[in-house]
Amino acid sequence: MSRKLFELGFDRNQPQTNRIALKVDSQVPTWMSGSFIRNGPGMFYVGKQRLNHWFDGVGMLHKFEFDQGKVNYESQLLDCSAARAATNEDRLTYSEFATDPCWGLFGRMRSMFQHGPTDSAKVNLAKIGEQYFALGETTMQIEFDIDTLESIGQYNFNQPKFGTSSTAHPHIVGQEAYNMITKYGPVNHYQIRKMDKDATKCASVKTLFPSYMHSFGMSERYYVIAESPFTVQSLNLIAANRPFIKNFKWNKKRGTRIWVIDQKSNQVVFKQEIQPFFFFHFVNTFDTESGVTFDMVTYPDAEVIQSYYLENLGNPDTSIPGGVLKRFDCNFSAGEVNISQLSNVLMELPHIDYDRYNAKSDYRYIYTLSLTNNNSSFYDQIAKIDINTNKSIFWNQEGCFPGEPVFVPSPQSKAEDDGILVTLVLDTTNESSFLLLLDASSMQEITKIIAPDPIMIGFHGQYFKN
Ligand SMILES: [Fe+2]
Repeated sequence: MSRKLFELGFDRNQPQTNRIALKVDSQVPTWMSGSFIRNGPGMFYVGKQRLNHWFDGVGMLHKFEFDQGKVNYESQLLDCSAARAATNEDRLTYSEFATDPCWGLFGRMRSMFQHGPTDSAKVNLAKIGEQYFALGETTMQIEFDIDTLESIGQYNFNQPKFGTSSTAHPHIVGQEAYNMITKYGPVNHYQIRKMDKDATKCASVKTLFPSYMHSFGMSERYYVIAESPFTVQSLNLIAANRPFIKNFKWNKKRGTRIWVIDQKSNQVVFKQEIQPFFFFHFVNTFDTESGVTFDMVTYPDAEVIQSYYLENLGNPDTSIPGGVLKRFDCNFSAGEVNISQLSNVLMELPHIDYDRYNAKSDYRYIYTLSLTNNNSSFYDQIAKIDINTNKSIFWNQEGCFPGEPVFVPSPQSKAEDDGILVTLVLDTTNESSFLLLLDASSMQEITKIIAPDPIMIGFHGQYFKN
């Protein structure tokens, strides 16, 4: 990627910003009353150490608060043990995704027992019941105050050690949340748990070599677990002297395994090994007459994780691989999974109108980051994919790198795409960032709201209505 994009987007620490009113025009809809919060890395330099990977950075929250046509902005490092150690001690003391603290002999074992993996919940956000959480890929959820962005602290489950890894994408059903936990041990398990005080176990399947898991599927009747052949020998997570993700290897000899679990019986009702592929994101999962269907952004292998190393992102000649949107129709009685490609657009960070269309078979639109061409060094446009017509419309601007687009329905919204897309864009030409509001139906610009500083490239955002 260009030097400027790398320097502004990744290769630095982001200053925190106290609450400030942003300059807006009359186009900001007055009906928008709520906060768009974006999670992601805010710190890649800890002491003398530069972190290795996009998924390593110490987490930071950026909040844009909408109130009757006015917009306030503030940002804060996510207050957690890993961030406090990084800022107070000026050194990395927790294991991040692809960076370990500088350890001596036996240091890794000692550190795992003393500190465990990072609690920097830098990936996603969720409202569960009346509580707001920052989420990462562990079971440590950081609760925060939506008004002040201050961390309230790590959520205390009644049983502290029910699993190590979790997906960053729980499914929200009314006031409840469900997530898929990976429990490493002599026998490894994927467990579906309700994320209540007891972290109630709903279902469990065993696996010999657990895979790296970022999301899972949930329809109205089923949970869907997909295990790519990017797997780990779990003992290595403690014993091998390597950062977390470096213990995972692509196993060329096997495919991707699918488990479908009935939510009533909590039993596996369908299991199949299909062609190998890697993925981060389920897009949607819904019941059908013959079983269950899930849509996913897929890759032929796990090389995409390699491309997110800062060493590769900073190379002006490298390009980023885009994911391919595929549909997997599971037919239980036939024992088959039919796979079809839904779009030619290369994408990542897909988003749907989750509240109204998750688990719905008639959903039609996916809003996603995509690439203007095969040589794009990073995601440089937003696409709206119509999976019924296979037509797509785009927003892009020279030198601009948008974040995940988040759909906000209009107050009387009836059509699926009647609403606004909100996304935070890094503009390398003007060395600034702006919040972009697009008409989700036409993908036409409504307005841009310029932030006080350029904001580093992050992961997921959510709009929380007041
Ligand atoms: Fe994600």
